[in-house]
Amino acid sequence: TIVHVHGRQVLDSRGNPTVEVEVGLDSGAFASAAVPSGASTGEHEAVELRDGGEAWGGKAVARAVDHVNGEIADRITGLDARDQRAVDLAMIEIDGTATKARLGANAILGASLATAKAAAADAGVPLYRWIGGANAHVLPVPLMNVVNGGAHAQNSLDFQEFMLVPGGAETFSEALRIGVETYHALEALLKERGLSTSVGDEGGFAPDLGSAYDACAAILDAAERAGHRDKVAIALDPATSELFHDGAYVLERQGGTLDGNGMIDLWADLADRFPIVSIEDGLAENDWATWQTLTDRLGGRLQLVGDDLFVTNVEFLRRGIAEKVGNAILVKVNQIGSLSETLDTIELAQRNGYATIISHRSGETEDATIADLAVATNSGQIKTGAPARSDRTAKYNQLLRIEDQLGAQAAFPGWDAFPRARS
Ligand code: PGA
Ligand code: ZN
Repeated sequence: TIVHVHGRQVLDSRGNPTVEVEVGLDSGAFASAAVPSGASTGEHEAVELRDGGEAWGGKAVARAVDHVNGEIADRITGLDARDQRAVDLAMIEIDGTATKARLGANAILGASLATAKAAAADAGVPLYRWIGGANAHVLPVPLMNVVNGGAHAQNSLDFQEFMLVPGGAETFSEALRIGVETYHALEALLKERGLSTSVGDEGGFAPDLGSAYDACAAILDAAERAGHRDKVAIALDPATSELFHDGAYVLERQGGTLDGNGMIDLWADLADRFPIVSIEDGLAENDWATWQTLTDRLGGRLQLVGDDLFVTNVEFLRRGIAEKVGNAILVKVNQIGSLSETLDTIELAQRNGYATIISHRSGETEDATIADLAVATNSGQIKTGAPARSDRTAKYNQLLRIEDQLGAQAAFPGWDAFPRARS
């Protein structure tokens, strides 16, 4: 039984305020959870409540914290923490909006995740096992964002993320080693070329490379140098909703404008030249008709991930399934704002053959819940940044702990996580 609910404002990895919530049970079990925050957010995401005004750049979350300590605490105190769906539904009901705009998705999500963690502590089982049950055993292939651009960096790259995918590894820890060694080789290579080794919001380097072609080539050069060229592939998240203006894709930093079909041609050409296994938000969130064409043309050989497009929401995903748009979904807990709804979205995706990639936000905290969520749902893929910076490594370190705990039971899918790219 929940006896204690307390929210407070803490900081995220960009130095912006965010919500942390503690939940305590009558048994003495206790847990806290902190809420992440995006920069290139989808238009239809659940609403992150911020105070506005002068202080904290308008980003304070005192109102959301007040809602945790007021209405949410009043409503969920006395509920059974093991009954996650009832707790989440109670909060959704008192919020009363479709987008959690009144209480704030940040307030509701914090309480939702802290409830799950407290229930796991009470049951004396790890979070991944509490959420996923006896069959939770698959460690995810990490999609490691080693070159940052777009809204996450001030360099010359229009596209947001260039990720290293160490799918040739036998285990999660080997995948992490391949990622780390390639990341450091990339750092050395950029230094030699006189390029910046400063990092972007997700810990990847943010050099002034000329184009997506140069970024992909640099990553493969680094993998070659580290001795891992045959074990890696590339995943892209160009986050093109950010580039879509008046029906056209404006590549400002690189110079040039493309229409939707031009973008598809670009992805096809990149996939011909480089070992690309996954492209996320290759088209904009409101460009559904062109998304259909993209899926028709490239869906047979690439994972096509909807992030801004689906916003972890069953309604948008249902439309995608019906209209044959995309074949994978990025899963971000704060896009929808509760654990139960996140699990609903994952279930719908998996039942319909859509791959699920559990994901961080560009603004993160030391909270590593998504690592457990990836294993709980046997998703097989996680996106949680470069293998550097504590906000990102917190998740990788938690996965190392889980792998260690599972021992011989830990499975690692490797390239099997990308069935489309293999054929
Ligand atoms: P965001 O970026 O957290 O800034 O939205 C991550 C992504 O687009 O996948
Ligand atoms: Zn994205």
